[in-house]
Amino acid sequence: MKSKMWGGRFSKKTNPLVEEFTRSIQFDKKLAEYDCIGSLAHIDILKKAGLLTPGEHKKLQSGLKGILSSIKKGSFKVNDSFEDIHSYIQSLLEKKSGKAALKLHTCRSRNDQVLFDTKLYSLKNISVSLNIFSGLIEKLNSVAKANAAVIMPGYTHLQHAMPVRLYDYLGAYAQMFSRDVKRLSNASDNIKLTMGSGAIAGTCIDYSKYSVTSVYPCAICAPANSIDTVSDRDFVIEILSALATTGMHLSRLAEDMILWATKEFDFIDIDDAFCTGSSLMPQKKNPDVLELIRGNTGKLYGNLMSVMVMMKGLPLSYNRDMQLDKEPLFDSFDIIQKELMIVTELFSNIKFKNENMEKGLQNESLYATDIADYLVQKGTAFKDAHAIIGKLIAYKLKTNKEIKNMFNAELNSFHPALNKKVVKEIIDPKASVMSKRSIKRK
Ligand code: ARG
Repeated sequence: MKSKMWGGRFSKKTNPLVEEFTRSIQFDKKLAEYDCIGSLAHIDILKKAGLLTPGEHKKLQSGLKGILSSIKKGSFKVNDSFEDIHSYIQSLLEKKSGKAALKLHTCRSRNDQVLFDTKLYSLKNISVSLNIFSGLIEKLNSVAKANAAVIMPGYTHLQHAMPVRLYDYLGAYAQMFSRDVKRLSNASDNIKLTMGSGAIAGTCIDYSKYSVTSVYPCAICAPANSIDTVSDRDFVIEILSALATTGMHLSRLAEDMILWATKEFDFIDIDDAFCTGSSLMPQKKNPDVLELIRGNTGKLYGNLMSVMVMMKGLPLSYNRDMQLDKEPLFDSFDIIQKELMIVTELFSNIKFKNENMEKGLQNESLYATDIADYLVQKGTAFKDAHAIIGKLIAYKLKTNKEIKNMFNAELNSFHPALNKKVVKEIIDPKASVMSKRSIKRK
């Protein structure tokens, strides 16, 4: 029979609907490992404060270590009828360590405990995510290097703009993900692991006893302000915001790849292992993985919004509303970690169809700005050059002639500096890319 951590003052059993409605164990069981780590630190503090005898401390420590190792081994079974993971671990410990376990919750409130666990979970998952991020960034950089010579049409407004290097296109995504890494690292740096806030007002243990250095991945200390500490979910919002931004970057990458895999673009071939088929149309090879990455962005934004709105207008300090921060947080980490891993693998086996990118580069409009820049070098003001080349393009479209095939007299009529030799030199993907000197070439 499970006993509640707070049953004393109640004369009636909790309504089963209320039990069910308030329960969080079905999702906060993810915090089990961090709850044990926190309790291990907490019993050290209790011992230092003289609130546990060495014998009691030893019993609790071995009980908690036993639970921790069962979690790590995967043999830990959760009883979902408990209110939350904190009360479940408390009850397990009562079985394992006997009476000493009744002292575990001395000078502690779940308001502080859940915060500690969520912070530790966050630190761990940020570090896992950063590792996966670095694999993806490395992969993008190596694919970019392997395709360093490939030039493709660059788009603005999804219209042909100017030739660009595939190297730089992939580098753009690597740069976005590097910013994401910074955002997540900042969120990690902002997390202060504290203990000693109690429910709101602090505890009777001297603050000096709360300095514990043995806990992964950083030291614990007493809070500067216990009211703010138990009220604070800024760290959750910062993480969700960083993850939502990553989701946005991944969805843009996914959209580019979806477009590039169409018959119309035909710039890439995605490995069969990363595509799915149609139950009706035998010919189909669909980029469902990329579509789901694009689609998940809605969930990532929703997770951020739900916590932002949940926190809005909450009076200080802890309110039960805050229990609802966990599912969005867990969900966003799960989504992003999976997506980063899958995109890394997808890029290990992607094939670029250089010949189709080259075909796209035959569109002479891509070089219009280069021809205007040439006139500028010859002393024409840019605005005039823009108008002249605009007319040349209009003429090309009207007559359906290639600029390269126009006669000297035709070209001359637009500007005396234009002739067949000049336009032939300018309308060249490599020359176009090399003429852009504002970016230091790697
Ligand atoms: N399960 C709660 C949460 O996740 C922690 C429990 C605090 N409950 C309380 N009545 N003070 O936020």
